[in-house]
Amino acid sequence: MIQTLSTIARTLVAAATFSAVAISAQAQGVTGDVQAGQKKAEMCIGCHGIPGYQNAFPEIHKVPMISGQSGAYISAALHAYKKGDRKHPTMRGIAGSLSDQDMADLAAFYASQGAGKTAAETPRTAGTAAAALIEKGACASCHGANFSKPIDPSYPKIGGQHADYLFVALKSYTVEGNNMIGRSNGVMAGIAKQFTHAEMREIAKYLSTVDGELKVVPQSRFR
Ligand code: HEC
Ligand code: HEC
Repeated sequence: MIQTLSTIARTLVAAATFSAVAISAQAQGVTGDVQAGQKKAEMCIGCHGIPGYQNAFPEIHKVPMISGQSGAYISAALHAYKKGDRKHPTMRGIAGSLSDQDMADLAAFYASQGAGKTAAETPRTAGTAAAALIEKGACASCHGANFSKPIDPSYPKIGGQHADYLFVALKSYTVEGNNMIGRSNGVMAGIAKQFTHAEMREIAKYLSTVDGELKVVPQSRFR
């Protein structure tokens, strides 16, 4: 318990730093437009609009579900790819071509696609091993008791996300000094580094079975 509390304290300090960054990003005063975002999403649906679509880098895994994700998080993630804080080459290339307005519009559009899907308040019970790992990392203290109610809108919903993607994402927070792989994030780096890859798999497997708000909305081209 004491160990958990000190983990929470350490991560909250990091979280405060992160929020300051998130607020300055919002201060650019860009408001997203759902319809504009729908048109711009044409360049996204080839991957994010196809159920079960897989990406082969850095290993084969399903692309993340982003429909129903928090708008502020989508926008924060796109800015992180553009800035290079997130290294995934495909998404860096795509985000690099987007303006702040494009990102705000896309975030508004993808967040709006979650309408009508609300995760159960209480997540399904985790097995003993997964429960201990989730407790150790204090995941619910930031991502919400059901993993779909983050304490800050710029934090992601992770409940029900694809297990193979969650595993790749968790690993990426521990990678440093690689131009192609990795995410620099003060909050999640400290958390992810506490776990072995086997433990990350266990956590990812459990989170993917939790009732969530994320989905893939298949779309035909718009014109
Ligand atoms: C060629 C396939 C492809 C296309 C096209 C694509 N993405 Fe992605 N996207 C990915 C992959 C793969 C990832 C996971 C990258 C990683 O590991 O960080 C990703 C990650 C993301 C994330 C982060 C999700 C999360 O949970 O952190 C967002 C947001 C996103 N994409 C939005 C978009 C938007 C908006 C577009 C269109 C403008 C787009 N993507 C186009 C493959 C694609
Ligand atoms: C102190 C707050 C905090 C705690 C505790 C925390 N997270 Fe996070 N988590 C975040 C933030 C903030 C992000 C977004 C980081 C970024 O922008 O890349 C994030 C991102 C993630 C992502 C990437 C999601 C995606 O769609 O790419 C995963 C997976 C994740 N967290 C899992 C966990 C797990 C599992 C635990 C517990 C073992 C945990 N987190 C504990 C704040 C937290």
